[in-house]
Amino acid sequence: MDVSILGFGGSEIGYEQASARTVLRLLGSAIDAGLNVIDTAECYEDSETLIGGALGARRRDVYLFSKCGHAGGWGRADWRPAALLRSIQRSLKRLATDHLDLIQLHSCSLAHLRKGDVIGALEQARERGWVRFIGYSGDGEAARYAIECGRFDTLQTSVSIADQEPLALTVPLARERGLGVIAKRPLANVAWRYARKPSEPYYQDYWMRLRTLDYDFLGGKHAVSTALRFTLSVPGVHTAIVGTTRPERWPENAALLEAGALPDKDIARIRARWREVADASWVGQV
Ligand SMILES: NC(=O)c1ccc[n+]([C@@H]2O[C@H](COP(=O)([O-])OP(=O)(O)OC[C@H]3O[C@@H](n4cnc5c(N)ncnc54)[C@H](OP(=O)(O)O)[C@@H]3O)[C@@H](O)[C@H]2O)c1
Repeated sequence: MDVSILGFGGSEIGYEQASARTVLRLLGSAIDAGLNVIDTAECYEDSETLIGGALGARRRDVYLFSKCGHAGGWGRADWRPAALLRSIQRSLKRLATDHLDLIQLHSCSLAHLRKGDVIGALEQARERGWVRFIGYSGDGEAARYAIECGRFDTLQTSVSIADQEPLALTVPLARERGLGVIAKRPLANVAWRYARKPSEPYYQDYWMRLRTLDYDFLGGKHAVSTALRFTLSVPGVHTAIVGTTRPERWPENAALLEAGALPDKDIARIRARWREVADASWVGQV
């Protein structure tokens, strides 16, 4: 796959209940402007259905990625191979397509990966022509194992100014082994925008880390641009899937990237600050 460096993350449109009209506008304008990666999952509420409804004939213009493992909702994992295969078939229906370009195991544990039958289910889906490629979406030691086991085509993992563990633990190895790498949560949810600790637990770790990291650029008008360009500067990262419900965001973020690669000195400062303050608990966030 020849992917656009800026992709679309489909969790927000599901969890925040974007309308079909909004998703049609959002994806239509983004595809017109060069987007070709759409990532979603079995458990992002109506995200798959919204994307399937919006794409229509434009399905052929994009690479469609989904995930499996929680067809009954994020808190109700089901890693039985038959359940994974059923979930993939449901994704095909919801996304109104006869194949996915990529199916990813949605953050199962290292123990499940080691057992192996979850990977076997994805391989079966590939043999049956339901999916072209198979991947692991997750972090830490499980992500490392997913690369080492040699059975996956891609890794989706959290990479950002507030999540730098993969810069040593996984991404270099994935690069060496020729896996496609998708940076999830590439803007660290812009967690620095909250003056007080956000009530939503999903944002809290990044918010606290960013307070400690206290990068000098966070208060300025180039903060998002610097954060996104940092993620995309990591050697081995192929695409960054930013989540949004706003049709104007994708072109806005694409324009930020016109500034090109982040200068080496800025990257070095962000890395140095991380090394200075990150402690052992600052592991990759799912
Ligand atoms: N385990 C997994 O597999 C897993 C876990 C987490 C995420 N993911 C994937 O990764 C994708 C991205 O993750 P994410 O959405 O949590 O994190 P993210 O992309 O780092 O952050 C999304 C947030 O950034 C804001 N944003 C985007 N562009 C902005 C800009 N130019 N200025 C200000 N704010 C901006 C958006 O706000 P607005 O809505 O206002 O634009 C949105 O709230 C998800 O959609 C999903 O596909 C996968």
